[in-house]
Amino acid sequence: MYVSDLALNDFRSYEELVLALDPGVSTFVGRNGQGKTNLVEAVGYLSTFSSHRVAADTALVRQGASAAVVRVKVQRDGRSSLVELEIVAGKANRARLNRAPVTRTRDVLGVLRSVLFAPEDLELVRGDPGARRKFLDDLMVMRSPRLGGVRQEYEKVLRQRGALLKSAGAVRRRGGQPDLSTLDVWDGHLAAAGAEIVAARTQVVRELRPYVAEAYEQVSDGAGGARTSYRSSLDLAEGEPAPSATEDADVTETRELALLDVPVLRERMVAAMSELRPKEVDRGVSLVGPHRDDLVLSLGSLPARGFASHGESWSFALALRLGSYQMLRAEGGPDGDGGEPVLILDDVFAELDARRRERLAGMVGDAEQVLITAAVPQDVPPALLGTRFTVDSGRVERA
Ligand SMILES: Nc1ncnc2c1ncn2[C@@H]1O[C@H](COP(=O)(O)OP(=O)(O)O)[C@@H](O)[C@H]1O
Ligand SMILES: [Mg+2]
Repeated sequence: MYVSDLALNDFRSYEELVLALDPGVSTFVGRNGQGKTNLVEAVGYLSTFSSHRVAADTALVRQGASAAVVRVKVQRDGRSSLVELEIVAGKANRARLNRAPVTRTRDVLGVLRSVLFAPEDLELVRGDPGARRKFLDDLMVMRSPRLGGVRQEYEKVLRQRGALLKSAGAVRRRGGQPDLSTLDVWDGHLAAAGAEIVAARTQVVRELRPYVAEAYEQVSDGAGGARTSYRSSLDLAEGEPAPSATEDADVTETRELALLDVPVLRERMVAAMSELRPKEVDRGVSLVGPHRDDLVLSLGSLPARGFASHGESWSFALALRLGSYQMLRAEGGPDGDGGEPVLILDDVFAELDARRRERLAGMVGDAEQVLITAAVPQDVPPALLGTRFTVDSGRVERA
């Protein structure tokens, strides 16, 4: 698929922008702060409803405006779809598909699929688990938009359960006897949504694994050994040892297979929560569930986090994104009938050495659509420049 038209109103620095795009490679060149990332961020946002730069949507709405609108026309197998999303600061988004309002905004998820690689992705390797969970969730939702609703539900229940645990803890510290009967209901809700998320993420990890390993080998010049596996807080709560970088592949296999069965997971979560309840009341937090899980990355027999060099960390981050791209490309859309994702490379060539640049260029040159941003055009291998646009104070022009 490719984006043939992009229109923005009050999105980030853009008051109004209308832009026609071609399939193949487009490169947006301009000095820093001119609006290059804002442009591709809008495209990325439409496919995941989340930004790669900020957690809250407020920053996406132009300062002084009350709502942003992103419109994208997507071409896929000779058919075009128009997706429109209104982002209202602090409120739920509103969406339209082919000019008709949709009842649930997530109904437009999956129409435009994209994979975005940006300097922020170094966090995937070096940062806290939250970035890796978001990475898995974005993929999970793109493949199965319904899970976007499940994730929202999970977050809501988690907040409510957390508030309940905190107030119960406060009562207990005052020497009282908290009423914990309502907590059982919340345990059930949390386990129901949580089990679906854990199973879906684990499935993503399992399918993604070979693609990431292969992409790592390609970007790092045959230095293999990039491994990924899912670590669940449920296993840890049940006393299983944490998966290590040296874990045998068949141990990983057994562990992950057990994380795919939703009804069983649900029961295990409920059991773990009742086991952990005194501790949870004490600390005022939910100790088991997908919000405590992680994607474990290792290189050879060492964990990537804390051990990988700067270059290796970049290669791993790149491999996670390119692997995602290849996986989505191979499997087709949510309905399984094709739909190669749009690949977005935001300001990454400046960060890569000449060899990695060339390798990246070689790997993505045949993609249906690639959107590249760069401050310095010389950083982008000439073979990959494609259609050039200049971005200057929010004005985007075909060069
Ligand atoms: N919500 C917003 N309202 C107005 N301006 C914004 C908003 N968010 C970001 N900007 C502006 O956008 C500019 C950054 O654009 P960006 O696309 O990140 O630049 P670059 O070309 O370096 O990628 C900054 O000048 C910033 O002040
Ligand atoms: Mg930028």
